Amino acid sequence: MKQFLTVLLAMCIPVVASAAGGGGGNLDSMEPDLGDKASLQRGAQIFTNYCMGCHSAQYQRYKRSAKDLGIPKELYEQNLIFTDARIGELMHNAMPDEQAASWFGNAPPDLTLTARVNGPDWLYSYLRAFYKDESRPLGVNNSVFENVGMPHVMVNQGGLCAEPPHFGQDPKVDPSTGEVVGDEACEEWAIEGSMDPEEFDRAMYDLTNFLVYLGEPALMDRKRIGVYVLIFIGVFFIFAYLLNREYWKDIH
Ligand code: HEC
Repeated sequence: MKQFLTVLLAMCIPVVASAAGGGGGNLDSMEPDLGDKASLQRGAQIFTNYCMGCHSAQYQRYKRSAKDLGIPKELYEQNLIFTDARIGELMHNAMPDEQAASWFGNAPPDLTLTARVNGPDWLYSYLRAFYKDESRPLGVNNSVFENVGMPHVMVNQGGLCAEPPHFGQDPKVDPSTGEVVGDEACEEWAIEGSMDPEEFDRAMYDLTNFLVYLGEPALMDRKRIGVYVLIFIGVFFIFAYLLNREYWKDIH
């Protein structure tokens, strides 16, 4: 009985599994907020404009994204579908894998589940980790995913770091003034982007947020339903308790 109870208790302890992606090293942490629809909408916009040329999200339908993000179907169709796909179709793209592999070294993988595989921290850091490296075929490298085949597709917005950006470090404090200095991932820029670093970080936050949503679209529903279930159990407990008292009241 004791053993049984121990096992039962152990089963109640929530197991938080966080997938660590390749690359290792330190990462900036990123707390997804799937309740922030505006952020998810901005993320979807970036994903469609800058990522879907190469990557698909083939386990998700456009319709589902439109519904969950609160974007009217017509608006979504007009602004966020660039192929001749209809809103009910899966988020495929037209890039042939074999050719892509010969262009980039590796074919761009499908991104529907990338946030589940790599984790939000990894993605958020990876997207901000490109730096100048003339020894690479495309002139860029990535400090989170060494020798990645993907070009820095948002170089115009985010700029290009001159040195490998570093993540997850405590901000340095200037001992003479006590002020925080050098808390940026990149200390020196080879190319300045049109956005300033905070703005670009915010954009990459939104994009990562959207990728987290793509990995598990039912998460928002599950949380909402979970609250109702807990309320139900709470109310049910009162009746069960009263009934129990009623049954036992004559037994001493
Ligand atoms: C020009 C084509 C191209 C574009 C555009 C592009 N990528 Fe990639 N991406 C690639 C290629 C190629 C790889 C595979 C790299 C490798 O394995 O070396 C890749 C790999 C990745 C990976 C790593 C996945 C893994 O687990 O290995 C992620 C994440 C990713 N891309 C996200 C994005 C996002 C987000 C965008 C939009 C901002 C984007 N990509 C735009 C070509 C592209």
